[in-house]
Amino acid sequence: MIMQTYLIVGGAGYIGSHVVRALLASGHEVLVLDNLEKGHRQAVHGCEFFQGDLGDRDLLGRIFSRHGVDCVMHFAAYALVGESVEQPLDYYDNNTGRTTRLLQAMVDHGVGRFIFSSTAATYGEPGRIPIMEDYPTLPTNPYGRSKLFIEQILRDADAAHGLRYTALRYFNAAGADPSGEIGEDHDPESHLIPIVLQVALGQREHVAIFGTDWDTPDGTCVRDYVHVNDLAQAHILADQRLQGGGTSTVYNLGCENGYSVKEIIDISRKVTGHPIPAVAAPRRPGDPARLIASSRKIRAELGWRPQFGDPTSIIRTAWNWHRDHPHGYGN
Ligand code: UFG
Repeated sequence: MIMQTYLIVGGAGYIGSHVVRALLASGHEVLVLDNLEKGHRQAVHGCEFFQGDLGDRDLLGRIFSRHGVDCVMHFAAYALVGESVEQPLDYYDNNTGRTTRLLQAMVDHGVGRFIFSSTAATYGEPGRIPIMEDYPTLPTNPYGRSKLFIEQILRDADAAHGLRYTALRYFNAAGADPSGEIGEDHDPESHLIPIVLQVALGQREHVAIFGTDWDTPDGTCVRDYVHVNDLAQAHILADQRLQGGGTSTVYNLGCENGYSVKEIIDISRKVTGHPIPAVAAPRRPGDPARLIASSRKIRAELGWRPQFGDPTSIIRTAWNWHRDHPHGYGN
């Protein structure tokens, strides 16, 4: 393995911090850029940290001029579907506009490899399950569009400037590093597994199930949960492929298994030993009924194999983190 220098944009966030840890464990040099709007400085150890914005061309210029960055991995984004419907311009500004400035700075400084955090939300409501990468991308909300625009911009940047990229379309990222040192800490929290675990910690009375009349086996939404460390390994594999001369491409990142909201709550009851009361609530606008990835392409081309392929092991790592850090990085 040849040591590489990575700039991790959004490296103090949930997924970014797990990728930083994986890259450091593989012996690479890592620089982190994060404006700490959502990220946590305490989540990043063992590398140089720059507090600043991904749209700050001067700061990016200084980083790229002083450090021989080989590859940029980009995690800094707003990622809440409902919020994106209410504040679309913030999403297009942050996720699309500022990312374009990051890409321009890379081109200006001759940085030629980019790993992009894309999303299953680029597909919208899928016509068929499991979802393959060549299925239509018809996002149903500004969040998905803000990410899809970048995938399209990347194609143009590759054609014009030779900027090679891999877009990884995450399904439902979950879990925490088994060390228990880093994990998920959003404020406010909106994701299912952390909310369920907050109920187990006594921080919430119950979990609301957003819709019990979906066209699914138990009437609740089905998602494909993938462990954050498995996502991290996929980033390393994706860049190894680009280092080997691979051309730009897109991969789904999911475990190919769907679990319903009710199933996740049941598994969490077993993992935590807590009854976790649940109440039926109206559907959340913008939710697709079922999202399940085909990960055939990344398995075949990169040899990616999830180590945490079942939700029990994923939830167990999340529970270790939440139980030991009931207020996240706050303590
Ligand atoms: N849910 C509940 N109650 C809650 C929270 C969530 O029932 O309190 C349900 C949601 O309705 C959904 C499922 O649990 O059916 C999972 O919800 P999450 O909010 O955990 O995750 P999403 O599937 O909405 O979102 C994830 C990523 C997004 C991405 C999206 C792709 O977090 O960034 O997948 O559709 F856009």
